[in-house]
Amino acid sequence: MILVTGATGKYGAKAIEHLVKKGVKPQEIAALVRDPAKGQSLQDQGIELRVGDYTDGDSLVHAFQGIEKLLLVSSNDRGAIANRTIHHTNVIKAAKEARVKHLVYTSFAAKPGIQDSAIADFLDSHAQTEQFIKDSGIAYTILQNGIYLEMILPFVGEKVAETGVLLFPAREGKASWVLREELAEAAAHVLTTPGHETKSYVLTNTESTSFQDIAKDLSATLGKDVRYQSPPVEEFQATLKQFGVPEMYIGMLTTWGRAVAQGMIDVEDSTLAAFLGRKPTTTAQFIAQVYNK
Ligand SMILES: NC(=O)c1ccc[n+]([C@@H]2O[C@H](COP(=O)([O-])OP(=O)(O)OC[C@H]3O[C@@H](n4cnc5c(N)ncnc54)[C@H](OP(=O)(O)O)[C@@H]3O)[C@@H](O)[C@H]2O)c1
Repeated sequence: MILVTGATGKYGAKAIEHLVKKGVKPQEIAALVRDPAKGQSLQDQGIELRVGDYTDGDSLVHAFQGIEKLLLVSSNDRGAIANRTIHHTNVIKAAKEARVKHLVYTSFAAKPGIQDSAIADFLDSHAQTEQFIKDSGIAYTILQNGIYLEMILPFVGEKVAETGVLLFPAREGKASWVLREELAEAAAHVLTTPGHETKSYVLTNTESTSFQDIAKDLSATLGKDVRYQSPPVEEFQATLKQFGVPEMYIGMLTTWGRAVAQGMIDVEDSTLAAFLGRKPTTTAQFIAQVYNK
C-alpha cells in the first residue's frame, strides 16, 4: 500500500493520478487527508482515505498502519518556518513507529551558498528534514524539486497583459522552472520502479530561464511588447504597497525575487527528463499554454 500525504493539494493529487496511470490499483493507494469531505473524489475512485494531521502525531501513527511506501508532501504552513520542520518530523516519527518501509520526501533543490541567501530559512527546514529522515533508519528517497513553473504567475502579476510591464526584482537571475505535475509524475516513477532507496535526486529543468526570457515569451504569446523591469527591492515593495498588496504577499514576492537574483534556484539537471522519458515542459511552452487564450 502506498500512502500520499497532501492528497487534497495540487501536487499530491497529481502524484496519485500518475500512480494510477502507471498501473497501481486505486485499492493499493491511501490518501492522507485532514478533512474527508475534501477527499470525496479520491474515495469515489476507490482510494482509501486515512485521516491525519501533521500537527497530531497519534493521528499519523494510526493513519500509517499497513503502509509500505509513503510520499511525504512537504508542509505549506504559512506561519513560522519552524512549524514546517515540526510537521515533517512528526510524519517521519510516525512512519517509523508504523514500520513504513520506504519514505519519499519532497525537498527543494539547493545550491552551495544557499545558507546565506534570501531563502536560507526555507532551505534549512528542508535540510533539517532530510537529516531527520536519514537518521531515522527508514529507507528513503529525497526529491529535491525545482521551483514550480506555476510560481511564475504570481511573480509576473495579474496585470501584465494589460500594462505590458513585468515588474520583479530578480535582476538577470535565472531559475530552472518545472511543471508541478511533472514533478508529481517523477514521484510516481520513483514509487513504482526499483532502485531508488538511499538516493537524493535533483528534479529541475535542463535549461534555466530568466525574467528577460519570460518577458520575451509573454510578448510572443500576447502579441504585444512586454518589458521586464527589475527595480531595487525597496522601490518594488513601495510600488506594491501603493497598490494595496498585502504585506505577507509582498514579503513572499521579494524573498523569491532576491533568491532568483542571487542565482540560488538556477540548478539545471537532467534527472527529471530521464524519469519522465522526455524533455520537461519549457518556460516558453508553459507561457504559451497559460496566456494563449
Ligand atoms: N517547488 C515549488 O516551487 C513549491 C511551490 C509551492 C509549494 N511547494 C511545496 O510543495 C508542497 C506541495 O505543493 P502543492 O502545490 O500541492 O501545495 P497545496 O496545493 O497547497 O497542498 C498542500 C497540501 O498539504 C496539506 N496540508 C497542509 N497542512 C497540513 C497538515 N497540518 N496536516 C496534513 N496535511 C496538511 C493540505 O491539506 P488541506 O487540503 O487540508 O489544506 C494540502 O493537501 C507544498 O506544501 C510546499 O511545501 C513547492
